[in-house]
Amino acid sequence: MGTEEAREFTLMDMIPDSIKNSQASLIREFDAYASQFEGVIRLTLGEPDFNTPQKIKDAAVASLSENHTHYPPTSGTLDFRKAVCEFLKRRRGLDFEPGQIVATVGASEALRSVMGTFVGPGDVVIIPTPAFGFYESIAVQLGAQPVFIDTSRTDFKLKPETLNRTLTALEDVNTLLILNYPNNPTGASLTRAEVKALADVIARHKVGVVSDEVYALISYDEPTTSIAEFLPDRTVVVDSCSKSLAMTGWRLGYIAAPKGIAEQIAKVHQSTVATAPRPAMDAAAVGYRECDADIDAMVSEYHDRRNLLYYGLKSQGFDCASPSGAFYLYMRIPDSFPDTMTFCKAMVEKAKVACIPGDAFEKNSRSVRFSYAASQEDLREALHRISAWKSQEGF
Ligand SMILES: Cc1ncc(COP(=O)(O)O)c(C=O)c1O
Repeated sequence: MGTEEAREFTLMDMIPDSIKNSQASLIREFDAYASQFEGVIRLTLGEPDFNTPQKIKDAAVASLSENHTHYPPTSGTLDFRKAVCEFLKRRRGLDFEPGQIVATVGASEALRSVMGTFVGPGDVVIIPTPAFGFYESIAVQLGAQPVFIDTSRTDFKLKPETLNRTLTALEDVNTLLILNYPNNPTGASLTRAEVKALADVIARHKVGVVSDEVYALISYDEPTTSIAEFLPDRTVVVDSCSKSLAMTGWRLGYIAAPKGIAEQIAKVHQSTVATAPRPAMDAAAVGYRECDADIDAMVSEYHDRRNLLYYGLKSQGFDCASPSGAFYLYMRIPDSFPDTMTFCKAMVEKAKVACIPGDAFEKNSRSVRFSYAASQEDLREALHRISAWKSQEGF
């Protein structure tokens, strides 16, 4: 044995192209780049600047005091799942039972577990773009083929005709459609009639829907309609405590799925994370039952900030999509810049304001994403700095 030569081998050789080809988050990467510069106002991460409401924090402390420090059931405690159902009914008019809910480690794990339940090599995931980058990364890592539908010429809304064309071409392929309205990164939302029109198309094809509704509560024009209302047997809703309850660091979300499907998703969830954190579930249950006023106050503040940033940038001559939900604004960069990375780096270095290059959300982007989950004071100062930079450079 001792005389045998060691084999040439590195762990890198074992990693399949599906992992090597998937992209790490450009959002995190650019935020880290911007953090190297002093005094930069970072409108980068999609993270509420609000602290978690006090009642939720108190409930977590009580949970720990009661020694709720053990493994909860795979799909989450019954109390958390009941609280989710009550919330979905009260705030969104959606009918779910606790058996249809699985508590997850944020919407991130929910997406991974749901997509891992439905697709694998040879399957297709339709992603309307621009889009949150996880959809593509997860699809690629699962060996599925992402198919992008560019929505930039239709106000960032997926149109029924375009969807119909795409689905018709994929008729024989196992296909999952991802929807995300209100949308990250554009803030676009769909009206009830627009959701219904998409549902009518989907009903005519063999396709499953994952509806990422993490921004459903943060909607300024009309309440968000879930496609699950029209297609209850076809849709898995993904939601999170991160945005609506300002609980990003607690890592809790959930899926709401058709009867019988939640159990299948729970198997993938179980072998990924076993279960979600118990104290977070106890805390969020209180959030879903008792924090409507906190949620409404945060949404109202986001609304004011949206107006501040949107009208501020527009008055400086920038071309912005009007956001009707979430806390993002998508802005076209001036033609004089070769690409979005050049624009973003120049803005960090010269104006000391950071936003995210649109390439994080679509190929060959000409736009950038601002997150306005920041104080009005910071937004005013950012507008002031951008204006000064713009006049200095003359673009
Ligand atoms: C559209 C969308 N989906 C899912 C997530 C993941 O959220 P979390 O894992 O914090 O629940 C995010 C976070 O930014 C998001 O923007």
